[in-house]
Amino acid sequence: MANVTTPLLANDRRETDPDTDPNDSEDALQGQSRATQTGRSWHMRLRESLLFAWALLATAGVLVLAVWASHQQQTSFDKPAGKRNLIFMVSDGMGPASLSLTRSFRQYTEGLEYGDTLTLDKHFWGSSRTRSSSSLVTDSAAGATAFSCGKKSYNGAISMLPDNTPCGTVLEAAKKSGYKTGLVVTTDITDATPACFASHVDIRSQNDDVAVQEVGNGTLGRVVDLMFGGGRCHFLPSGAAGGCREDDINVVEMAKNEYGWNYIGDRPAFDEFWEGKKEVPLPMLGLFADTDIPFELDRRNMNDVYPSLSEMAKTALRALEKATEGSDQGFFLMIEGSRIDHAGHGNDPAAQVREVLEYDKAFKAVLDFLDESDTPGVLVATSDHETGGLSVSRQVHAEYPQYLWYPAVLANASSSSEHLAHRLHSHIAQTSDNSTDNLKKYINDELIIPGFGIHDASDEELTALASHPEQAQYLFAQMISIRAQIGWSTHGHSAVDVNIYSSGGPGAEAIRGNVENTDVGKYLRNYLNVDVDAVTEELNKNFKSKRNLGMIGYEIAADTTDKVPALSEDHWVVHEELETARSKP
Ligand SMILES: *[C@@H]1O[C@H](CO)[C@@H](O)[C@H](O)[C@H]1NC(C)=O
Ligand SMILES: *[C@@H]1O[C@H](CO)[C@@H](O)[C@H](O)[C@H]1NC(C)=O
Ligand SMILES: *[C@@H]1O[C@H](CO)[C@@H](O)[C@H](O)[C@H]1NC(C)=O
Ligand SMILES: [Zn+2]
Repeated sequence: MANVTTPLLANDRRETDPDTDPNDSEDALQGQSRATQTGRSWHMRLRESLLFAWALLATAGVLVLAVWASHQQQTSFDKPAGKRNLIFMVSDGMGPASLSLTRSFRQYTEGLEYGDTLTLDKHFWGSSRTRSSSSLVTDSAAGATAFSCGKKSYNGAISMLPDNTPCGTVLEAAKKSGYKTGLVVTTDITDATPACFASHVDIRSQNDDVAVQEVGNGTLGRVVDLMFGGGRCHFLPSGAAGGCREDDINVVEMAKNEYGWNYIGDRPAFDEFWEGKKEVPLPMLGLFADTDIPFELDRRNMNDVYPSLSEMAKTALRALEKATEGSDQGFFLMIEGSRIDHAGHGNDPAAQVREVLEYDKAFKAVLDFLDESDTPGVLVATSDHETGGLSVSRQVHAEYPQYLWYPAVLANASSSSEHLAHRLHSHIAQTSDNSTDNLKKYINDELIIPGFGIHDASDEELTALASHPEQAQYLFAQMISIRAQIGWSTHGHSAVDVNIYSSGGPGAEAIRGNVENTDVGKYLRNYLNVDVDAVTEELNKNFKSKRNLGMIGYEIAADTTDKVPALSEDHWVVHEELETARSKP
């Protein structure tokens, strides 16, 4: 407003200041009053007063109109009218380095020009600061709470605030305003990011509670219309095949019987709806894996078992568009590239590039949808945080660092380190001969050579794997990272700012440049023009958290920023021996 009113007043002043000598007009005024002085009647005085009053009113009116118009312009910009769709994408754990890694990898493997970029690159919008209320390094729960509620909270919070009260989410508010809503992920649908949009629990490990709330047994009833992802085990009772709940509630049955959900549990059932073959009835719950859907790198080899992120996203878009066809309101859909984060935690660059490429493909699918749809819409995409402290080059020799990294190493990997570790573990559980030499031979011939295309595994590497199979995933990933000369600083998250991408659209200027993650959350609700605060109020009327009831003994994380612990040997658990073992090219 200040920007608008200041020049307005300045203009006014300039316009009322006459170019001529101000004394001239004063004289004229005085001359006029002198001339009329004697013949003045009460009629004249009344007429003058009326004119004066009219002039005052007119001026006031013009001012009010001007202020109203500029206000109107602003609010209609922030909160567009008419039917519209909002797609919010989250690349969990994807920092800026992941983009450089993936862009170069793609150019290398597909023989593209230097200038050939990812679809994401073409829609770069800004960057987001990510800290939580309890730490400079956020987790996905606090990160997603910033998006869903537009508020900072503590690491672990699932749309709960530091004062232990629930905060209304953009998805809940959208549902209450008549939008259709959806969640599409590649990890457990009860994991932190999706959970933050449709449930409220004190700490993210309460997956069982999240599942029950997501299908509709929460304070607000059912708020989601479509869910696609993994994590079926949290919907099946303890003891049942594929179940991992601690209680004996069958949440799939509860969803179907109490809340009217349609349920599909595998790829063949999903395929019946592919490319509009059959209309997707809502509400629709699709759970395609017990836990995570495999990394894209591995999933490609199991394409008949699991749908990909972009396939799920396309089917969800089509379903929500169809369901809102005759409605005044559109839909809100959250799509998460969930496992970019997992590849970061595992420090596996070969798995990560394939996750990012698939995310880029899903991003493009959403843009294509927006282009083709008759309903206006906006795509906003960002990350909750970076994972792994990825760096796209690494010093692996004592000599001066080389300025390069090798995408060819990542291109040769056809399995993730996670997948090879699973295979090693099941081999050990089944084999009748666990001798180190036999294990080393199996690891090299059956896993590393075919899985990574690595033909020069060192004896140190094979011995480490055979004697510490419990660390196999990290050890495998390290073999790739070192050869590709890709660096990592942690198996956890980092505090680096993450990128924001967008199709652009009404009000999206609010998240241009460098913004706080909560600004992204506020943009979502503004674009949909929904009342999240009213939902917060409703939630707080009836809400009892397990922590308040003393049912879980969880301490909400205090701000950890100032408490610097002393260094101990435990801080150095990286496998330094292996790195120095490869000190020669
Ligand atoms: C919701 O959950 C509560 C607690 O688990 C249970 O008592 C209730 O029957 C459930 N409601 C429905 C409709 O399933
Ligand atoms: C990739 O695999 C091919 C075929 O096995 C091999 O010749 C090549 O050396 C590998 N490249 C790298 C960088 O490991
Ligand atoms: C190999 O290890 C697995 C798991 O510890 C065990 O079940 C199996 O009996 C072992 N085999 C031998 C020959 O020790
Ligand atoms: Zn993570």
